[in-house]
Amino acid sequence: MRETLERIRSTAMEQLAAPNADLEQIRIQYLGKKGELTAVLRGMGKLSAEERPVIGQLANEVRADIEAAITAQAEKNAAAALEKKLVDERIDVTMPGVAPARGRRHPLAIIQHEMEEIFIGMGFQIAEGPEVEYDYYNFQALNIPENHPARDTQDTFYITENILLRSQTSPVQVHVMEEQRPPIRIISPGRVYRSDAMDATHSPLFHQLEGLVVDRGITMGDLKGMLELAAKQMFGEQTRIRFRPHHFPFTEPSAEVDVSCFACGGKGCRLCKGEGWIEILGAGMVHPNVLRNCNIDPEEYSGFAFGMGIERITMLKYHIDDIRHLYENDVRFLSQF
Ligand code: PHE
Repeated sequence: MRETLERIRSTAMEQLAAPNADLEQIRIQYLGKKGELTAVLRGMGKLSAEERPVIGQLANEVRADIEAAITAQAEKNAAAALEKKLVDERIDVTMPGVAPARGRRHPLAIIQHEMEEIFIGMGFQIAEGPEVEYDYYNFQALNIPENHPARDTQDTFYITENILLRSQTSPVQVHVMEEQRPPIRIISPGRVYRSDAMDATHSPLFHQLEGLVVDRGITMGDLKGMLELAAKQMFGEQTRIRFRPHHFPFTEPSAEVDVSCFACGGKGCRLCKGEGWIEILGAGMVHPNVLRNCNIDPEEYSGFAFGMGIERITMLKYHIDDIRHLYENDVRFLSQF
C-alpha cells in the first residue's frame, strides 16, 4: 500500500509538472470521490492495527502534497496569465493620438447657408417644395402655357407627360401662395434640373434659391432695397446693384440683377470679364396672372420674386472655374473650404 501511495504521489506530481496540465482533471483523478487516493483510503480497513496509523499518515501527506502542488500550479498559471495580459494590453500613453478626420460643409452648402442667414435676418421663412413636380406648377401656373417659347430654355426631364423634374424653384411660389394668404415672405433653396449637357458652366442638376414677398403695397422699390441689402451682406458693404430689363413670363416688369464686381470694385477684371458688373439673379414683380392662379387678388395685393443660382454665386465667390468640381467629391478640392 505504501508503494501504491508513493506511486500516486509521483505520477500526480509528474502530471502537474507537464505544460498546460488540466488541474481540475488531476484533482478529480486523485482526490475526487472516485479518485485513486480515495480508493486507497477506503481500503485501509483491511490493514492491521499497527499499519493503519502509519499508512494513514502517509496517505494524508500524499493528499496534502498533491493539494499543495495543485494550488501552487494554479497560482503560477494565474500569475503567468496576468503577465501575458499586461504585456498584450500595454498602452503607451505618451504616443500621439490618431486625430479623427473631421467633415466640413460642402461649398454649396456654405453659400446656401450664408444666404439663408441673410434672408432669415430680414424676416423671411424657409419654404420647401417637391423636386418632382407637375407641369402645372413648373410652367402653367407661372404663366408659361404649353408651347410657350420660354419652355425651350428650361427643357427638363419628364417622368410622364405632365410630371417632370422641376427646372426652377419658382413653382414653390405657387405652392406657398396656394397655402398661405399674404403677407408672404419666403425663400426656398433647392435642387433643380435641366436637360443640359455637362460642361464647365452647365450641369443637369443644380441649385437655386427662390424668394417671394406678397403683401399690400409692395413695389419695385421694395425689391431693389431688399436686394441691395442682401448683396451688401453677401459680397461686402461697398457692393452696388444694377437692374437690367429682362423678360420672365411670371414677373412683370422683370429684371436681371447685377452686382458691382467684388474682385475689382467695378473697374473691370478677369472675374467680371472686364465688365465691372456680375449678373447674379433674375427678379421682378409677380405677374397678376400668377397671383390670380393662386386666388390672390392682384387689385389688392402685389409682390416681388427673385431667383438665383447657388452654383453660380459659389463659383464667383470662391473663384471656382469648373462647375464639375462641385459634384466630384474630391476631398483635395472640398478640404479647401
Ligand atoms: N426662375 C427663374 C429662372 O430660373 C428666375 C426667377 C425667379 C426670375 C423669380 C424671376 C423671379 O431663370
